[in-house]
Amino acid sequence: MKDMSKPLAQYSAPINLPTNSPIRAAVTASADYPFTHVEATVKLDQNESSEDFPEELKALALQRMTQQAWNRYPDLHADSLRDAIAAYEKWPADGIVVTTGSNVLIALLTQLSGIGRRVVTVAPNFALYALGARLLDVDLSEVALRPDFSLDVAALVAVIRQRAGGVVYLPQPHAPTGTLAAQQDLSEILRASSDWLTVIDEAYYQFSAADSTTLARQFPNTVLLRTFSKAWGLAGLRLGYALTTPDIARQLQKLVPPFAVSTMQTAVAQVALENPGYVIERVKRVICERERIVKALDTHPTWRAHPSAANFILIRTPDAAQAYAQLLRHGVLVRRQDSLPGLAGCIRVTIGSKDENDAFLRAAWAT
Ligand SMILES: Cc1ncc(COP(=O)(O)O)c(C=O)c1O
Repeated sequence: MKDMSKPLAQYSAPINLPTNSPIRAAVTASADYPFTHVEATVKLDQNESSEDFPEELKALALQRMTQQAWNRYPDLHADSLRDAIAAYEKWPADGIVVTTGSNVLIALLTQLSGIGRRVVTVAPNFALYALGARLLDVDLSEVALRPDFSLDVAALVAVIRQRAGGVVYLPQPHAPTGTLAAQQDLSEILRASSDWLTVIDEAYYQFSAADSTTLARQFPNTVLLRTFSKAWGLAGLRLGYALTTPDIARQLQKLVPPFAVSTMQTAVAQVALENPGYVIERVKRVICERERIVKALDTHPTWRAHPSAANFILIRTPDAAQAYAQLLRHGVLVRRQDSLPGLAGCIRVTIGSKDENDAFLRAAWAT
């Protein structure tokens, strides 16, 4: 097991950069994705669903898979899956792009509008927006969130206006703080960024009371990112999609490798989209458990939970290394966030099943 008592380095220093390397310097200088696999009984470190895809739907998906011809390539651009997503989202199919995880879309959107221009995002933030920009050698501006984790709209607008064009990345709700940005703040940023692509990453939107489809219809340079990895309980499937205008989707699609989404992924996602009822029930359970944990932590002597609109909670402790080790001693794995700007002492805990959350709460009070 790796030594997790030290803060996770966000960006590792380049080690002996060879002058004649076949690899671009931006790649050599970039950090690995900040994740280490650790075994634990109670796994609350990756914001997954604690509940697996329902057994009967797995059986149905397997049946569909066996009916397919595995010797044939799938649709060029996941066309039948895009139709199913279009019907579910009430969004035009020609404004949808599907890839193997919204992670992939983040890299592609920086290729689409960032290279040679700029990426603007906030700090602290989900690591991939900045990491993707660094890997592609794109000029990066990270605007600090306010101390209460709200968006500093004036600072963001100032950075956007400094230079024409690029990509703005904003997760809604924000990760890893769980904060929901005010719609008015988002619309002010969108209004100021007419020559920018604004990506609103809605990986956790089902756990909040909001979504940004109205803004995306109002501001045509908006891209919404959604994923099957969280509320749908399908992180193992690796599927995410963008909702945008047909014009942007057509250009973005050029960057997606042909036949990228497999026949098997399509079968599972179609079964999920035909049976979305289970997601609604699960989301209700997660929200209920989230509020129970936040309330329970109110009485903790030193840990402070930040209000969350997602399936995880950010908790400020006096010492993240100590809190992480204490929880792990009791079999509970969470994620340290204390290497991120403004998050000294912070850990992030995913909302699990009732039993898992009880184990977390017991461990939070243990020594
Ligand atoms: C804000 C945010 N966006 C995107 C992702 C990645 O989603 P996917 O599994 O679709 O690649 C995550 C995963 O944790 C996330 O937290």
